[in-house]
Amino acid sequence: MLKEVIATRYITPLREGGSLPGLVEADDFGTYVMKFRSAGQGRKTLVAEVVCGELARRLGLRMPRLVTIALDPVLGLGEPDPEVQELLRSSGGLNLGMEYLSGALGFDPLAFAVSAEEAGRIVWFDALVNNVDRSWRNPNLLRHHGDLWLIDHGATMIWHHNWPGAEASAARPYDASDHALASFAPDVRAAAADLAPRVTEDLLAEVTAEIPDTWLEGEPGFDTPDDLRRAYARPLLARAAGVHERITGIERTR
Ligand SMILES: Nc1ncnc2c1ncn2[C@@H]1O[C@H](COP(=O)(O)OP(=O)(O)OP(=O)(O)O)[C@@H](O)[C@H]1O
Ligand SMILES: [Mg+2]
Repeated sequence: MLKEVIATRYITPLREGGSLPGLVEADDFGTYVMKFRSAGQGRKTLVAEVVCGELARRLGLRMPRLVTIALDPVLGLGEPDPEVQELLRSSGGLNLGMEYLSGALGFDPLAFAVSAEEAGRIVWFDALVNNVDRSWRNPNLLRHHGDLWLIDHGATMIWHHNWPGAEASAARPYDASDHALASFAPDVRAAAADLAPRVTEDLLAEVTAEIPDTWLEGEPGFDTPDDLRRAYARPLLARAAGVHERITGIERTR
């Protein structure tokens, strides 16, 4: 399971994010971008962040470290914005934290060049997890010390919103025409050759073991958190081998 820290100070809301993530300080002296359990789609968004973030890092993509953050709602008492105060008040317990990359800039596809190789790896990964939120309008990529970092995997794995239809949903193609890196001739074939064999049952078991039980409990149709962990692993395992053949909307290098 992810390391757990305790929020000691709520610093400020990050106004750019749709889900109103906040910057917090924790008892390990770390600074984290905190995503609230009670925001928007709630805990499924956080589960998606964990599965995709932990998988991405294990595949060698740059992804900030994730933790769970225990939040005492009293931290919100001094917050002047009523919307933020309500989020803090209703998110007692475990929330998600992502290590804050201080000084990072939003990625601008017009100002920064990306190699076909790196673009290929990121587009391939987004196809695998069915990420619909890395468009040129909202890249969810940061530049930090000259490198590209992935953030924000809340809008992925659409199949987890309807488990009975998951297999059919996971068999669908991935439209990358709006992808932030579509214009960099992403070499998804090379990425698939390298990354697909690494997406094994063992790796996915390790990744899904990072999800806190409390975000998995009580899902209709599943008796235990581990049953649901296996359900998260299955579509990814099934997609890994052939998803590169089903990516549409990009210029291919070959
Ligand atoms: N680890 C980080 N380090 C530095 N800045 C970050 C980090 N994570 C997020 N941010 C900043 O906060 C913004 C919002 O974060 P994020 O995209 O994860 O939130 P969101 O609410 O899911 O956003 P969206 O509007 O895309 O749904 C980012 O665009 C980025 O500017
Ligand atoms: Mg975002």
